[in-house]
Amino acid sequence: MSKAAKAKDVQAEMAQLALQTRSAQELMTRMVELLHQRMLKYNWVGFYMLERPAGQPPMLVLGAFQGAMTPHTRIPLHQGICGAAASTGKTVVVDDVSQDPRYLACSLETKSEIVVPVFANGKVVGELDIDSHFPAAFKDEDRVLVEYCAGLVSTSLEKSSKAKA
Ligand code: SME
Repeated sequence: MSKAAKAKDVQAEMAQLALQTRSAQELMTRMVELLHQRMLKYNWVGFYMLERPAGQPPMLVLGAFQGAMTPHTRIPLHQGICGAAASTGKTVVVDDVSQDPRYLACSLETKSEIVVPVFANGKVVGELDIDSHFPAAFKDEDRVLVEYCAGLVSTSLEKSSKAKA
């Protein structure tokens, strides 16, 4: 099976997952498991959620993840590829992390990375971060898949914020 066909299959599995899970938290937990298990070059998969404590600078805080523990459990918005994606609200793809001065190392094996913001009601509330041990692992089909996953989480978060209102 081509990688593009595999990404399409996994996308359909994610749509099913969104129907089966009862909270955004459960969806994120199952989503990182499935992405890590099914996409062989996705060696670290995790969410960072944006916290805005009163009187303190906003912070990206590690949420559900699969892969080795990272030293970066809290990332300010002006640091890292994670900070760049959250502060601009745009997907960042880095083919060679050693060439990107923003990069915060999580594992010496990481060669490439994609970070996709998660929105709720038009605002960035977190992001989905994926690292690969392979250079330039994230192609167009990966970007489509990861943005689709982030979109499912956005929908789920918006649903729960409406339910609470
Ligand atoms: N590499 C990220 C930090 C998070 S770890 O990859 C899990 C960055 O540069 O922001």
